[in-house]
Amino acid sequence: MVSDEQIRRFQKKVLSWYKKNRRDLPWRNTTDPYHILLSEVMLQQTQVDRVIPYYEKFLLAYPTLLDLAAAGRKEILALWSGLGYNSRVVRLHKLCKELAAHHQGTFPHSEEELRKLPGIGPYTANAILAFAFNREVAVVDTNVRRVIMAELNLPHVFTMKEIAHIAKRCVPKGKAMIWYNALMDYGATHLTAKKTGIRPISRQSPFEGSERQARGKILRLLIREDAVPYEKLAEEVKHKNIKGIIQKMEKEALIEKDKNEIRIAH
Ligand code: ADE
Repeated sequence: MVSDEQIRRFQKKVLSWYKKNRRDLPWRNTTDPYHILLSEVMLQQTQVDRVIPYYEKFLLAYPTLLDLAAAGRKEILALWSGLGYNSRVVRLHKLCKELAAHHQGTFPHSEEELRKLPGIGPYTANAILAFAFNREVAVVDTNVRRVIMAELNLPHVFTMKEIAHIAKRCVPKGKAMIWYNALMDYGATHLTAKKTGIRPISRQSPFEGSERQARGKILRLLIREDAVPYEKLAEEVKHKNIKGIIQKMEKEALIEKDKNEIRIAH
């Protein structure tokens, strides 16, 4: 279906484009897997421009995985505040604690071992393998998927598994790190979604009035005031599903209820 020759031409096209158009992003000057992990978690649902200052702020406050593992939940959430999707940092914290406690603060080098860790899915495992260890794996986010589909003329019926298989074949030998940096820039700034008309896997829903906005309000309130009675929280946040939102946040171990008071979980 996709020939070796097609792949070779695709590699050449993207790599020569990248030589002239590369973005200098802070997580490209490192192979420290903790730094790569932090950048990938921040970039999951957030644009590059918004991530950069948070990435730098976090590494100043917590230069190593052990520093982040030893930090308090509340101070981490306060530093993350404004970046959104706050349960990301809670999962990241849990993961760092696990690595600190059971892996001497180091990362395993195989997808299988990485996937056993809490909060690491297939995308993140492979992003760490490619960007920290230069391994020739499939790293398929929305941009990479769109670029591969458009450049290789893949039919829309292709599953993620089929796309991942082809993505792996596309990695130039010994160049995984530079290849994925190139592909991501090519997708983000050159072959954009608008240009291809290929729809992303998921779209963010409107923010105003959303549960996501309510969750942010709740966390900021709890960071500021420690413990807040349920009624006061409902009054300040004003969301029709406040009860459900609080239940979900409790389930995710973001917050906890003590009698009628709500606080950040520790
Ligand atoms: N999105 C996800 N990972 C990225 C990376 N390493 N560089 C740019 N955008 C990204």
